[in-house]
Amino acid sequence: MVSQESTPYLDALLKYVKNKTIPFHTPGHKQGKGVAQKFRNSIGEKALKLDLDIDDIENYENVLEEAEKLATQAYGADYSFFLVNGSTSGVLTMILSTCSDGDEIIVPRGAHKSIFAGIILAGATPVFIPSEIDEELHIPYNINPRDIEKAIEKHPNAKAVIIVNPNYYGLATDMKKIAQITHKANKLLLVDEAWGAHFKFHPLLPCSATEAGADMCANSTHKLLSGMTQTSMLHIKGNKVNPARVRAMINLIQTTSPSCLLRASLDCARMQMATEGKKLLTKTIDLATKARQKINKIPGLYCFGRELIGKPGVYDMDTTRLTINVKNTGHTGYEVEQILQTTYKIKIEMSELFNIVVIISIGDSEQDIDYLVSCLIDFTSTIPKKNTLPKKYNKLANFLHHLPQQVLSPHSAVFGKQKAVKLTDSIGEVSAELITAFPPGVPLLLPGEKISKEIIEYIQLERAAGMQLNGAIDPTLKTIVIIEG
Ligand SMILES: Cc1ncc(COP(=O)(O)O)c(C=O)c1O
Repeated sequence: MVSQESTPYLDALLKYVKNKTIPFHTPGHKQGKGVAQKFRNSIGEKALKLDLDIDDIENYENVLEEAEKLATQAYGADYSFFLVNGSTSGVLTMILSTCSDGDEIIVPRGAHKSIFAGIILAGATPVFIPSEIDEELHIPYNINPRDIEKAIEKHPNAKAVIIVNPNYYGLATDMKKIAQITHKANKLLLVDEAWGAHFKFHPLLPCSATEAGADMCANSTHKLLSGMTQTSMLHIKGNKVNPARVRAMINLIQTTSPSCLLRASLDCARMQMATEGKKLLTKTIDLATKARQKINKIPGLYCFGRELIGKPGVYDMDTTRLTINVKNTGHTGYEVEQILQTTYKIKIEMSELFNIVVIISIGDSEQDIDYLVSCLIDFTSTIPKKNTLPKKYNKLANFLHHLPQQVLSPHSAVFGKQKAVKLTDSIGEVSAELITAFPPGVPLLLPGEKISKEIIEYIQLERAAGMQLNGAIDPTLKTIVIIEG
């Protein structure tokens, strides 16, 4: 067995460079010699030399296979695939390789937009399950296994269940129970584990999808591990999924020129986790735990932790995630994000009306985290606060319970006859658009959904408060594209 300390993919690139081969092939920058000086000075000659084309690597297929096999062993999977277009491509692959036209797939309505993109492309029919809501904190919990059981009872022909675990706030559902439920009903379990690539490598983190028995999962190596942006892996466990079909679907949607640099970065991130993951993650968990304790002493802030475990849909938690409720500072999360950026040069992961989300990872130092805490202390004690946030915001929590009415399949809506109307005239019409709050990337409106008065009010209030939207055809959202007739 090849040792987890080895990095066959990176080594193959280094060998090519060492051989001093003269490249008459792509990429056209010819190992950096042709790039603009400014770019070369910015990213360095060494990186450019390694930016090769896959065909240049001697024995290419075997090198990739060896590197992916090491990932398979490290993750305890049966097959692993390196991806260079994020977990988005992993999620698309999972859906396209298991569902086709008209197949039902059970999915949380609060899932990431990549899941709905997969459903649109496959022509599948979503069966929605709600997320449980914390009205005080204004966040969704994760999925209650009982809701999956109920959805399967109502839709016995559904092909697969796809869930997101953990959610953006690090809250994890009971994966083992969900695997039992889905397998007992003879359904496939697919997991969008974009935020859980590190789970396998530390016992204090939630159970990974592969360990729980999910048939497939996609996890973003670039989000919480050290992979470069866009790197991700797709894992298969068990024998219910055909790996050849999965590979074929990856080939269908992925570039024909996958970046060797990104793949080498996947190889090294796997090596790093397999050889010193536990040590690095212990430090990360400790840093986040200390930060949480200090933040919870700051008047006006609340950073939840394991006390949420036991709430519906919350079985475990990734304690490296810091979600800080700022409601009692008199500022919205959007305002706090701005203040942190402009006054303290701190850039956080995400803000919402009542919360900010901070990512702590193996790249953080105690010094940086102490700085964050000191800035939060300074901000809450020196920046004048408003008395309270407007009352109108409170009713927004009700919207999180709102399960829109799906009247057309997302695929039919995207490819149906369409027209643009004024947003205010669209109530009662059927959306042809996928409009997403970004981050966290959860769609507010899906193609095929009936546009309600509540959703329009919600979008308008949230936008006025500072929410960023993604995907709207008219970015000003004065108009919206609906299904004609
Ligand atoms: C839950 C979830 N799934 C999938 C994705 C897509 O991941 P990637 O950016 O690696 O394509 C994201 C990205 O934020 C996400 O939050």
